[in-house]
Amino acid sequence: MNVYITGVSKGLGKALVEFYLKDGHRVFGIGRSHSFAHPNFQFIEADLNNVDALDIPFQVDDDMLLINNAGVIGNIKRLSDQELLDCKEVMTVNTIAPMILTANLLQQLPIHQKITILNISSGAATRSISGWASYCASKAALDRFSETIYLEEKEKGRNIRIFSLAPGVIDTDMQTTIRSSDAQDFSSLETFQNLKLNKELVRPEETAKNLAEFIKSYPGNWAVGSLKLLSQEL
Ligand SMILES: NC(=O)c1ccc[n+]([C@@H]2O[C@H](COP(=O)([O-])OP(=O)(O)OC[C@H]3O[C@@H](n4cnc5c(N)ncnc54)[C@H](OP(=O)(O)O)[C@@H]3O)[C@@H](O)[C@H]2O)c1
Repeated sequence: MNVYITGVSKGLGKALVEFYLKDGHRVFGIGRSHSFAHPNFQFIEADLNNVDALDIPFQVDDDMLLINNAGVIGNIKRLSDQELLDCKEVMTVNTIAPMILTANLLQQLPIHQKITILNISSGAATRSISGWASYCASKAALDRFSETIYLEEKEKGRNIRIFSLAPGVIDTDMQTTIRSSDAQDFSSLETFQNLKLNKELVRPEETAKNLAEFIKSYPGNWAVGSLKLLSQEL
């Protein structure tokens, strides 16, 4: 299988690359940097905040998997208090880049080609968190986009599976950024600090394995929601 993964420098994306390489697949990492030296790994340099740089030629294999993983939390501050508005970057990296990569993939590959798309969503897609307006909006849009694309491609008879999954809380730099935000700007600060203190954050390697196993064994062709809740249905 040819696996394309965005945001592979660290966190969940890095762990997903490691998982799929170990599982014997050819992995293409899309992002600004990486640390892999593996014969089955190829790096495609792209800043996902630059929509003009996302014209990526996909190499066809019997089975294709695109994982839109790269994401940014943005300035953790109420929108009305932000001096430097970064909603454009958050929406571009988290939502518009996955939309463009998906469009490129679907337009390049024939209808009979087996394709799986996994979008890494968040619990914030369905739960509003003060200080995260752009992030919540970006992930809600990603969920709705995923579901709509599945409807569209099913109408065309495409051999496709689409998932938009909230992976749960993971011990990555994104959580470090969240914990180091200002309590004045972020009313949920203590909740996120306690997740770390109470060892409730999951290792990225474990989440990567759970996601990969879920999309492999899930009987349906699409799912949008929490990885944990959906896994209980298996
Ligand atoms: N951590 C959690 O608890 C949690 C919970 C729910 C959902 N998620 C989602 O999981 C995904 C992975 O997050 P993570 O926790 O692994 O975060 P992370 O450790 O901060 O990693 C984010 C990745 O995205 C890449 N990225 C960011 N901006 C980019 C850009 N403009 N162009 C290319 N790559 C870019 C980063 O690359 P650079 O090194 O180039 O910045 C990095 O590889 C995200 O979609 C996030 O929203 C995370």
